Amino acid sequence: MRPVRSAIAALATAALSLPLIAAAPHSDAQPDRLRSAAPEGFFVGTAVAGGGHHLEQDYPDPFTHDKEYRRILGRQFNSVSPENQMKWEFIHPERDRYDFGAADAIVAFAEKHGQVVRGHTLLWHSQNPQWLEQGDFSKEELRGILREHITTVVGRYAGRIQQWDVANEIFDDQGRLRTQDNIWIRELGPGIVADAFRWAHEADPEAKLFLNDYNVESVNTKSNAYHALVQDLLKQGVPVHGFSAQAHLSTRYGFPGDLEANLRRFDALGLETAITELDVRMDVPEGGVPTEAQQRRQAEYYQRALSACLAVDGCDSFTIWGFTDKYSWVPVFFEGEGFANVMTDDFVRKPAFYALRDTLKAARKG
Ligand code: XIL
Repeated sequence: MRPVRSAIAALATAALSLPLIAAAPHSDAQPDRLRSAAPEGFFVGTAVAGGGHHLEQDYPDPFTHDKEYRRILGRQFNSVSPENQMKWEFIHPERDRYDFGAADAIVAFAEKHGQVVRGHTLLWHSQNPQWLEQGDFSKEELRGILREHITTVVGRYAGRIQQWDVANEIFDDQGRLRTQDNIWIRELGPGIVADAFRWAHEADPEAKLFLNDYNVESVNTKSNAYHALVQDLLKQGVPVHGFSAQAHLSTRYGFPGDLEANLRRFDALGLETAITELDVRMDVPEGGVPTEAQQRRQAEYYQRALSACLAVDGCDSFTIWGFTDKYSWVPVFFEGEGFANVMTDDFVRKPAFYALRDTLKAARKG
């Protein structure tokens, strides 16, 4: 986050000499909202629930059906990320058919509420449709399929997406490119990553193009692999603009205390950085109600992740992976863990919510 203190001071002075104007419906002048607490130019976002694991739950699509959910989504955040709705299996269900309905609705919602959008994702090993994974395509065909997909999807939303996760999770935890489970890298070789960035940039020259992964919060083997890759891509003139850490954290492990240092070394390469999918899961306690100590520890992780981003110049985008435990992916994917979000099932704010709000407020004050 770059300091904007002088701009804020100028605005404050200007405000004194202006007549009072009635607040617009989505004005940011609401101090209890995360988006209003945030410093100028800082984006605080959430995933928009729908698709993926939600399809197997006994509730209807959250984004389209849950009024309270939508209300909070519009009020609290100034950035949104489709949780599943722009993934291949969702947006490109058959080779010759795209389904833009859900993604269009999210982008329209964002524009109505003065929010930016993070597009997620274009080149990944997971959540690909059967027709693609089992398709038995030639290399030329596959290359054509990826190029057409990127051109079509990025082109459709050109000028309306702030950041794209172009490549998602391309390294394993040992820092090896996923040459087995990533169909693109396996079939087309590592050079396809650079091409994906080039095609995305052609389709939307304004969007900031990111490499995104989990377990890259710290300086470690995996983030080192990204650090090397970025330098290589930049040397080739590939339009890569950002490196982001998902930050799916668990209180089972310590907080990655070198997160800020890690983001800084990417910043030093001239890249933007971002936190894109923060949640902080905990062991489900006996009785099923988190203890105060658990909640405090969780709040501390949220606060430290946000502070790390705020402290780094080019880290202007901070996204939590959903805001209510009601729709979290965590209990479905991590046995025995849960309560990872900043609001309860009933949208009651947890200590983690207040930790974020107060940290944003403090940063806004400079
Ligand atoms: C998760 C979604 O939250 C679930 O709904 C879905 O079933 C699986 O994927 N890294 C990512 C996200 O980049 O897309 C994943 O989202 C979580 C891990």
